[in-house]
Amino acid sequence: MAIHLSRTFVLRKLHQLSGIVPLGIFVLEHFYTNSKAINGAGAFNEAVKDLQAIPYILFVEIGGIFIPLIYHAVYGLVITMEARPNNLNYPYPRNWFYLIQRTTGVILFFFIAFHLLHFRFGLIPGLNPTSVAHRPDIAFEIVSRGFSSVPIFLVYMVGITATVWHLANGVWLFMVDWGITIGERAQRLTGYACIGFGIFLLLVGINAAVAFIRPGGLLGGIL
Ligand code: HEM
Repeated sequence: MAIHLSRTFVLRKLHQLSGIVPLGIFVLEHFYTNSKAINGAGAFNEAVKDLQAIPYILFVEIGGIFIPLIYHAVYGLVITMEARPNNLNYPYPRNWFYLIQRTTGVILFFFIAFHLLHFRFGLIPGLNPTSVAHRPDIAFEIVSRGFSSVPIFLVYMVGITATVWHLANGVWLFMVDWGITIGERAQRLTGYACIGFGIFLLLVGINAAVAFIRPGGLLGGIL
């Protein structure tokens, strides 16, 4: 029996999958590395150096991050433009989540473009034009100098919050759409688990960012 899968179906499934693997996994790894800043400049610079020492790192970045990211981002924008929000007629939580998933996607599009040009490539004139990846020895200093500007730090707070919402809600959408979570009760319980995951990830992400401007992060000097 031949199974015919429509092109849109396959593109859609690849979009959903790319949000989890590799992008979701990458976000976890990224927050973990950033959290090394809690232990000070030396620990963070060492972590950046280790990452840059991965064999074939450029190909790993291109194949494992940039290509899936460009695919997910561009197809995500296509989906967003086709969306027909109906929140005013049907003000249910799921409808709001649908709208926020798309809104955070658009925010992420601009935030990630800015973030890559800012720290990965050091290409924004006037904003420490040094690539963190090219100077692991002063990686911490580059980020902490960037974050010493309040508007820039706020941009990162918005970006981290949008990323966490998009990923936590995305995990829920993925589990429902791929038939992993079936039934009303399971979907509700998974929803609570995703909220817990989101709150945890948000605290980790913000704490790591704060560690670049306050030694030890939010709890520095207390713990
Ligand atoms: C860069 C700009 C991005 C845009 C424009 C974008 C857009 C979207 C859109 C519109 C959806 C909803 C798809 C649907 O409901 O059918 C979605 C889902 C998703 N996105 Fe993104 N996204 C972006 C970045 C990211 C990043 C960086 C991650 C990794 C954390 C990510 C993870 C996910 C996940 C896990 C889903 C759920 C997949 C599913 O519906 O099963 N996205 N994205």
